[in-house]
Amino acid sequence: VTDVSIESLPLFPFRNPAHNPFSILDDRDLQSIEGPISRVRLPTGGWAWLVTRLPDVKAALRSDAFSADVNRPGFPLARPYVPTARGWFIRMDGDEHLRLRRMFTAQFMTKNIRRIEPMLTEIVDGALDAVAAAGPPADLVALFALPIPSLTICRMLGVPYKDHAFFQECSGRIVGTGEEPEDMMAAVAELTDYLAALIETRRAEKPRGDDLLSQLITEQIDTGELEPEDLTGMAVLLLIGGHETTANMLSMSTLLLLQHPEKLEALRANPSLMENTVEELLRYTTIVREGLARQAVRDVEVGGQLIREGEGVMTMLSLANYDESAFADADTFDPYRQAHQHVAFGFGVHQCIGQPLARAEMRIALNRLFARFPTLRLAVPAADVPTRPDALAYGLTSLPVSW
Ligand code: HEM
Repeated sequence: VTDVSIESLPLFPFRNPAHNPFSILDDRDLQSIEGPISRVRLPTGGWAWLVTRLPDVKAALRSDAFSADVNRPGFPLARPYVPTARGWFIRMDGDEHLRLRRMFTAQFMTKNIRRIEPMLTEIVDGALDAVAAAGPPADLVALFALPIPSLTICRMLGVPYKDHAFFQECSGRIVGTGEEPEDMMAAVAELTDYLAALIETRRAEKPRGDDLLSQLITEQIDTGELEPEDLTGMAVLLLIGGHETTANMLSMSTLLLLQHPEKLEALRANPSLMENTVEELLRYTTIVREGLARQAVRDVEVGGQLIREGEGVMTMLSLANYDESAFADADTFDPYRQAHQHVAFGFGVHQCIGQPLARAEMRIALNRLFARFPTLRLAVPAADVPTRPDALAYGLTSLPVSW
């Protein structure tokens, strides 16, 4: 690809449509995409392959011919600064990625999440009490969508919730965009310092608590298998991962269901429907819309396209989740759809480790919200609900409701 032809490629990342939070791409951007695997121009220079079909996205994310390490020369960057830090296994490949990831897998497995459901229910009910006390009207982002995942991940990690305003603000600066690179770096550094100090405190404690950080200190740090600096980075990653994503899914899901009153009524009448609905909510909203970046470490074919060593790909989770050959009538929100093959949590070795937790939080929080407030409705016209069009995790900045 010559410089001249790079200039003519569509510019990535695509912006989210301003008018409708549930429209994943502007028509103009959609029309600029030439075929299932095409090229886009990167704002940081150069270009990358854009992968849009569900089977191709899965094939790329499953393949060990691709690296997730943003520090590699030529890695496709959709933004001037992509945050990363020591211990962030989301950016690692191979054995080192697996070694660090495995330290958390047991805790986040479905059967362990089931065990903490009473705690999740208590956290949700606490948030709903605050909503009831504040309104009507009340802002469901500030009182419901943000505090539930925040309090949950704090309890699991053993991070004092009194500090949540601090790290909620930090992770907002890291995942939100429109921020200057320096500001994002500063937010990563602030969170890292905070958790490093907390881990030091936990190390000195005897006996230790049963929170995740204390457990990992005993099992991995005391035994010399893990450096405290790695645990610090891993904790930062979990705090950020556990926060913004689930919060945005909660606010977006609430808005969507309020706009589909008959479907919401069916759910109210039969809360066990929520488990399936959560999958469709994840597919339909796909809040990680920018796509996941990877770089080929050797020549590899994806969907019939040869991708050469060193070239970048952007796997578009959102477009894959709207792939008509996998999801018929994909533009329709259908709580009865079998949506389980969606890639809203990614795919392959980096597939979201927090997904059983996120699913449980969504199911419990949404069911209890709609049961508690049977007359819940938007307090402003839907078109006036403010969105975060540039954020890494798409979502709402506030959701004013009444009842
Ligand atoms: C609905 C909410 C969530 C969504 C949509 C979501 C989405 C994702 C996606 C797309 C990835 C793949 C990234 C990649 O391959 O580059 C991922 C990875 C990850 N997520 Fe989530 N996530 C959610 C909730 C959570 C929660 C609650 C936690 C923490 C408790 C979490 C922690 C992580 C971590 C640590 C990784 C990296 C896994 C690895 O690299 O092995 N996420 N998430």
